[in-house]
Amino acid sequence: MSLDFELLKVDPESAARRGRLRLPHGVVETPIFMPVGTAASVKAIAPDDLERIGAQIILGNTYHLFLRPGHELVRRHGGLHGFMTWPKPILTDSGGFQVYSLAAARKISEEGVVFRSHLDGSRKLLTPELSIEVQEALGADVIMAFDECPPAGSDRRYFEDSLARTTRWAKRCKDAWHPEGKSSLFGIVQGGLHPDLRRRHAEELAELDLPGYALGGYSVGEPIPSMYESVSTSAPNLPADKPRYLMGVGTPEDLVTCVGLGIDMFDCVLPTRTARNARLYTSEGIVNIKNARYADDPAPLDPACDCYTCKNFSRAYLRHLYAAQELLAYRLNSIHNLAFFLDLMARVRAAIEEGRYAAWSKAWLEERSLRLR
Ligand code: GUN
Ligand code: ZN
Repeated sequence: MSLDFELLKVDPESAARRGRLRLPHGVVETPIFMPVGTAASVKAIAPDDLERIGAQIILGNTYHLFLRPGHELVRRHGGLHGFMTWPKPILTDSGGFQVYSLAAARKISEEGVVFRSHLDGSRKLLTPELSIEVQEALGADVIMAFDECPPAGSDRRYFEDSLARTTRWAKRCKDAWHPEGKSSLFGIVQGGLHPDLRRRHAEELAELDLPGYALGGYSVGEPIPSMYESVSTSAPNLPADKPRYLMGVGTPEDLVTCVGLGIDMFDCVLPTRTARNARLYTSEGIVNIKNARYADDPAPLDPACDCYTCKNFSRAYLRHLYAAQELLAYRLNSIHNLAFFLDLMARVRAAIEEGRYAAWSKAWLEERSLRLR
């Protein structure tokens, strides 16, 4: 097994954990936020930008890379690491989410999911075995089990059938996986907002004794307090000695809150997507750099940030780039937003190390809510 997870410290007054994940392409200090690089690229930025802002691990997507350029092509080019020239760890998602959110005409059966490609309409079948084959060909350090994420508002009966199938699929993923290779397989716990279903599914998956576990099925339209409530009851069901990953979450407030509930890993398109929409996260709140009030503003975007964007450019310049639809706007904005998320996680880790996460996070969340008002 090529993954080693060391729990360095648990916060005395919350469930926050400081950990260290050793993977074939490097060490990841947890809690961590993983920038999303769906199609073998973190949109608008290059690997050396990522290294400068301190990214330790990035995420790729099976669904997209399977359809284009194809996993066999990526394998021929040295796997995802070689193909995109990113030397550090990569986690790939299984396709068991994108296939529901992106593909047309999908049909779920025991075998897998038949769908039409969002690119050319061609008919495809993704199965647990194929998802593992694709992810191993991509050469990711961490690969995810092929799951079903039921739509928000599905009835309980549907969840029960879907969970049972997702457990059978997880077993098939484990059978198809090569544990002696470089990819470590994580299971994904579903169950919507039903605490008993979440618990049962976590127990079923824990029996498979996989190297790590994720909570899936959040950020699908449920109220934020319901998500926090569900994560707080579900995280303790996961094996304490293995990494815990909350998929597709979230805002800075979500990260600070869910670390306190015992989560070690996060990913979300939020920082990169909002950067391309001119919404920038700063220590003073959210700045919409399109706003005319920044047109003549010589100040850096965030005086408290030491990213390349904040060290070198003014708000006036960033606003001009955006208004003129200059492509550099996307790069500079994305560098800053990712730096904000990664710096936040570094502060989170420091607070846990000092044994004061409960107080630190409470103060941070209070101050943040004042700034966002
Ligand atoms: N990304 C965000 N949520 C999910 C989920 O429930 N399953 C998978 N596979 N990926 C996700
Ligand atoms: Zn910055």
